[in-house]
Amino acid sequence: PAAENSTLFVFGASGDLVKRLLVPSLYNLDRDGLLDDGMQIVGIDIADNDDDGFRDHIEAFLADKQAASHAEGRNSDLNDEAWANFAQRLHYIQADFTGEEAYERLHEWLEGADTANAIFYCATSPRFFGDIAGNLGKAGLLKEDDGWRRFVVEKPFGRDLQSARELNAQLLDVMDETQIYRIDHFLGKETVQNILVARFANVMFEPFWNNHYIDHVQITAAETVGVEKRAAFYDANGATRDMVPNHLFQLLAMVAIEPPSALGADALRSEKAKLLSAVRPWNTEEARHNSARGQYRPGSINDEKVPGYREEEDISDDSNTETFAAMKLMIDNWRWIGVPFYLRTGKRMSARDTEIAICFKPAPYAQFRDAEVDRMASNWLIIQIQPNEGLWFDFQGKRPGPELAMDTLKMGFAYKDFYDLPAATGYETLIYDCLTGDQMLFQRADTIENGWRAVQPFLDAWAEDDSVEGYAAGEDGPAGAHELLERDGRKWHKVGEFTGPGIA
Ligand code: BG6
Repeated sequence: PAAENSTLFVFGASGDLVKRLLVPSLYNLDRDGLLDDGMQIVGIDIADNDDDGFRDHIEAFLADKQAASHAEGRNSDLNDEAWANFAQRLHYIQADFTGEEAYERLHEWLEGADTANAIFYCATSPRFFGDIAGNLGKAGLLKEDDGWRRFVVEKPFGRDLQSARELNAQLLDVMDETQIYRIDHFLGKETVQNILVARFANVMFEPFWNNHYIDHVQITAAETVGVEKRAAFYDANGATRDMVPNHLFQLLAMVAIEPPSALGADALRSEKAKLLSAVRPWNTEEARHNSARGQYRPGSINDEKVPGYREEEDISDDSNTETFAAMKLMIDNWRWIGVPFYLRTGKRMSARDTEIAICFKPAPYAQFRDAEVDRMASNWLIIQIQPNEGLWFDFQGKRPGPELAMDTLKMGFAYKDFYDLPAATGYETLIYDCLTGDQMLFQRADTIENGWRAVQPFLDAWAEDDSVEGYAAGEDGPAGAHELLERDGRKWHKVGEFTGPGIA
């Protein structure tokens, strides 16, 4: 059903996120009849613009994007009539959101609106998050007397444990936790949400989902892109802050939490907070030993030469920011004690591949050890988040013929074989949930802080010694990342290996 009427105010309306993700996802929600007819979207920014200019700026971007996706043979559906209707919802207030006057303008707007419900969306640089909240609070815009008021904040939420705590305190000073929607776009991905359904709506996974059967778990988010046009942000943050306490920890939580006692925001988020608080706190030396830090050097991606990180636009030639990070975590609870979780993420790796690879222990008795294999291969379950969304299971089977020989065979499920998914940004679910007041797919203050607490030892170790190992663009991280697993007698699952039924 369509969400209740509200006004969505977007701070930082001229920025990239708004045209790339936020407005397109609202357009798609409109296409699917999920927005109230009266809903209005109001951009606020300092850049000189007006309603028409704002509409044109977004339309031009979407038209370019559509042309590009047609050229790649993907369909996309920017329809003239639908766009014309949708565009009427868009408005622009030219104002400086760091000053008080902007908030008077919002007041005025709300006085003239059909609804008192409002969402304030921070699509700005993170340094403004706390001040915008403070200003909204001061202006009385967060009081829920006549309608609800919600505050949406993008990542990164802080840059370490201390700053995340401070930001949480700033927000909670002027609003209630039930009003705060901390976005992590990984939670908008179908495949991420499906992990919970696969685990808890089936009987066949959960009995094996523990340290009796699982040897270790690998979580990978590999990208082929480099720093792109985000030098200022990326160089100040690096791969770990950009990806680990947020995106990778969402995957970790989905795969490792206990079944929540109810399907509700608080039950689920409490399980996540509990899981993250069970991550073993390494000391600085252990953190260094259990991690690897890399930066891409010149190399090639899909046979095309690409520059190294230090040669990228606006990156200094002595930057030691990591573009790759790998780490080993242990979870000290009944289910997972003794099962390492290896995480890695990087730019300019060999393929785009986000996956969770679960390696099971070998069969207890090597019955077929004389069969034509070196050793009993392990069973693996691969949860492929993107691309080629699906679930794959590697198992041992008998090769046909008179001798007893074995092969690793595959069973699997590919989304595309079952569903025809409409064009979507991944933000639709999140925005819709925010419009309907469902916080389940958003981070709570404690889950954010527990996440930072778990990565803090690595940040501390690297603050003491920020040396970074090189890896050629197109390789899967530096030597140290491979050593991290080899020391434990293990190997990384190959990046970009999408084999299985349904995959050409
Ligand atoms: C963003 C990071 O949050 O996630 C980017 O800032 C990264 O650096 C992106 O590229 C990855 O998201 P996705 O959905 O493309 O896997």
